[in-house]
Amino acid sequence: MTAVAGATANLLDFVTNFWDVHRSTPGINDFAFGNPQEMAMPGFIGALAKHLEPESKDWYAYKRSEPNARQTVARRLSEWRGLQFQPEDIALTVGAFGAIATACDALLDPGDEVIFSLPTWFFYEPMLLLNGARPVKVPVRREDHDLDVDRIASAITEKTRMVIVNTPNNPTGRIYPASTLTALARALTEASERHGNPIYLLSDEPYARLVFSGSVLSSPVDFYPHTLISYSYGKVLLTPGQRIGWLAMSPNLPNREELRRAIELAQMSGGWLFPNALLQHSIDDLEDLSIDLIELEKKRDVMADALLEMGYELRLPEGAFYLWVGSPRPDDYQFAATLARQGVLVLPGSITEGPGYFRISLTATMEMIERSLPVFAAARQKT
Ligand SMILES: Cc1ncc(COP(=O)(O)O)c(C=O)c1O
Repeated sequence: MTAVAGATANLLDFVTNFWDVHRSTPGINDFAFGNPQEMAMPGFIGALAKHLEPESKDWYAYKRSEPNARQTVARRLSEWRGLQFQPEDIALTVGAFGAIATACDALLDPGDEVIFSLPTWFFYEPMLLLNGARPVKVPVRREDHDLDVDRIASAITEKTRMVIVNTPNNPTGRIYPASTLTALARALTEASERHGNPIYLLSDEPYARLVFSGSVLSSPVDFYPHTLISYSYGKVLLTPGQRIGWLAMSPNLPNREELRRAIELAQMSGGWLFPNALLQHSIDDLEDLSIDLIELEKKRDVMADALLEMGYELRLPEGAFYLWVGSPRPDDYQFAATLARQGVLVLPGSITEGPGYFRISLTATMEMIERSLPVFAAARQKT
């Protein structure tokens, strides 16, 4: 098996030997992944239906990053972040997945090192390996799941080409504070100057619009000029099977012309990695839609309060749609198996390189939450 495939094997084994085995059981309460457990929003179907009928002969022709879609994203992102993003600096991608793959292909050479934090989303490592880069993993701070900037700074070498930051974070739900991002920007600027080569920061923000009340999202792009942002509509719309997202370059990033070309070449040569025509035509309407954040927050609170009461350890997430919970048994896979036998599916933390934890996806319904609570209580008592 290649190293790339090896880095994905744990997840595939979990999906095929565990999730696929249990998920179609009648009455199952599925908290394993960020998948919809209810019908898609009518507004989403309406947006696609509105643009289905071709308006020109090129409506369904080969698409690159469509000018209208680029303009929409640049305008909305500029309003949102208060920086003037340029349409030419936006690449429409096949979700955040496609944005990250494209950024890796455009920025990395074999032997480059890329730093990211643990626990982590599963696919950074295989995408880095695919480009011949070396993943360098630094744990987050145990006490509050914040980035450990000192350890990141110590992990930088002259081969470091990129740092990936994911905020709001999957799986911890942490939004990194402005003070942390300021310190990170300082460390990256110093190291870039020391080594005479810019270190890029890829800010992976597919959950950027899923922020709970009382929290504010700071983006690394506000603090560090060599930043690119990856984004997906699959989270805010809860339609991860309709693949669209974008990769945006900071307007403060110098020499962007070269990078624009490298990004488009990466998308073409990677297998025409542009989102489908219909999704690009619909993007202006999709921008106005979101899952119900009030309901999401209610689910977070009901689940978190109940689990804390039962004696589970967790930190209330500030964004995204996951709870990151300490496993009462050191073997989180075993604990997930115990829950699964009682009709509750969670993701063992080991799969995200966070052993000793498990992840609950709050995309499950409130009914699933209510049905699962006695199972969580009984499993806690047994340990
Ligand atoms: C942190 C993170 N980055 C990127 C992605 C990829 O998003 P998408 O599948 O919408 O492209 C995910 C999806 O779970 C994620 O959690």
